[in-house]
Amino acid sequence: MEVHMKTMKSIIYEKYGGPEVLQLMQSPIPEPGSGELLIKVNSSSVTAADWHLRKADPFMVRIANGFFKPKQTVLGQEFAGEVVKVGAGVTNYSAGDKVFGSTGMKTGAYAEYITVDENSVLGRSPKGIDQELLATVPIGAMTAQFFLSQGNLKSGSSVLVNGASGSVGSYAVQIAKAAGAHVTGICSTSNVEWVKEIGADTVIDYKTTDFTRSNQQYDIIFDTVGNLSFRKVRDHLTDEGHFISTAFNIGLMFGMMGNALRKGKKVFTGITKETKESLEEVTDMIRKGVLRPVIDRSYSMEEIQEAHRYVESGRKKGNVLLTIHKEGSYERS
Ligand SMILES: NC(=O)c1ccc[n+]([C@@H]2O[C@H](COP(=O)([O-])OP(=O)(O)OC[C@H]3O[C@@H](n4cnc5c(N)ncnc54)[C@H](OP(=O)(O)O)[C@@H]3O)[C@@H](O)[C@H]2O)c1
Repeated sequence: MEVHMKTMKSIIYEKYGGPEVLQLMQSPIPEPGSGELLIKVNSSSVTAADWHLRKADPFMVRIANGFFKPKQTVLGQEFAGEVVKVGAGVTNYSAGDKVFGSTGMKTGAYAEYITVDENSVLGRSPKGIDQELLATVPIGAMTAQFFLSQGNLKSGSSVLVNGASGSVGSYAVQIAKAAGAHVTGICSTSNVEWVKEIGADTVIDYKTTDFTRSNQQYDIIFDTVGNLSFRKVRDHLTDEGHFISTAFNIGLMFGMMGNALRKGKKVFTGITKETKESLEEVTDMIRKGVLRPVIDRSYSMEEIQEAHRYVESGRKKGNVLLTIHKEGSYERS
């Protein structure tokens, strides 16, 4: 039987809504086109972006992914797996290569197989690490790295990470620490010890302490939660300090426009620029042992609705893994 005759399991959503719109279905295994790879997906992840896309929340999602119903009906922006077939003209990969990467807004990784361009945000999986866990690295780590670099992270910087126990936050703690910064994390009581374990020098429990009531100043205040504003934090920034935020709202956009008029303190927000190069930098940190994926829970494809409910609660610690192929190999029968 030819590859294109075979079917695979994938999680499809044909309308925006709650976790119940996610349905496990059979669909054809795609064929790699010119310059593409067919990848057997061993694992994916369930991220904050996934539930935002599923619910079309914020409304802006509908502009990118279909006004009335989703255009891309399979979620999943991160994957780890193995190349099983290559399309015409592929030069950098061959069947058997272990890879991981991000599909970006193309999504599609909640499936047993995906096709990706060989020049997309994809890299060879580093050795010496549980390959399955790599599916939780690209978005969180590249986002942390992108935003921290906009904040002019360098050795000796003092960095405050709000939401240090989330995916972006936990990678930010590790990346800032690896750069030689002094890192303070903000999280709730139950995560304080864990945030110290992943590298924070100091941890503030937001349940008991409001950092804006102290006199402490930071070179970078990185908000991964979206409950801070420049106005609220500006007195807690050093003279050349940066307030950086993944929240990407109008207030922050105005704050950023004001950078040209303002001396010293700067604001940055935006959308992560994911590149092959930044994935390679992250991979290098994994190889050196200064960055590791941190996993909270793992779910199977059958448990996808439960996984979404959990991630949407906003309480996950690090990352949530979606196991797709635990074992077994691709059959070319
Ligand atoms: N702009 C971009 O390009 C971009 C890229 C990636 C992600 N994002 C956005 O960045 C945000 C973070 O993503 P993520 O994947 O890191 O989210 P996440 O993993 O779902 O964040 C969950 C964490 O947030 C913490 N948290 C919740 N309320 C908090 C509070 N009031 N103060 C401090 N921490 C709090 C929780 O810690 P506790 O349980 O301890 O409270 C939990 O560990 C999301 O909104 C996502 O959409 C933006």
